Amino acid sequence: MNITVKKAKLHHIPQLEALEKLCFSLPWTSDQLETLITSEGNVFLVAENELANVLGYISLTGVLDEGYINNIAVAPDLRRQGIADLLLKTLISKAREKELSFLTLEVRSSNAPAIGLYEKHGFKPVGLRRNYYDKPTEDAVLMTLFL
Ligand code: COA
Repeated sequence: MNITVKKAKLHHIPQLEALEKLCFSLPWTSDQLETLITSEGNVFLVAENELANVLGYISLTGVLDEGYINNIAVAPDLRRQGIADLLLKTLISKAREKELSFLTLEVRSSNAPAIGLYEKHGFKPVGLRRNYYDKPTEDAVLMTLFL
């Protein structure tokens, strides 16, 4: 499979909505996706195959020199093939180009795949937010990478 990482465009929204519903109990709406894709300072990347199918995405909100990773997801049947690795590596390199000071995020404390992914790319746990998530209620681990 030939995978390309590119900037998300508005035409990706229907595929992103479908991916959200597959991956999350509280999926983003098309309006939320549009805001994340179009807002100044944000980075929203998609991984596409040769048929322009969206296989995964990563979303970052940039505020001054701070980067907040909102989410990353890969289609359930395409996991463990390095797609998230490629998305996160590309995002970190874009964050360095934009001269961001750090990247930070929250992740469910039980989400071993995501925590493993972030640790692999140098993120360190820096705190805990108690009962941060709903559906189900769960703590969030805060993780940060200084650039
Ligand atoms: N168990 C443990 N570590 C895992 C893992 C698993 N099931 N899946 C991925 N990882 C970690 C490993 O460190 C892996 O590196 P390795 O292959 O050298 O061991 C690294 O992530 C990269 O794996 P990759 O194949 O690129 O990940 P992926 O494409 O399967 O995507 C997620 C990983 C987390 C994005 C994917 O599982 C997903 O979409 N989950 C649902 C959405 C989600 O929870 N997003 C995170 C919200 S904060």
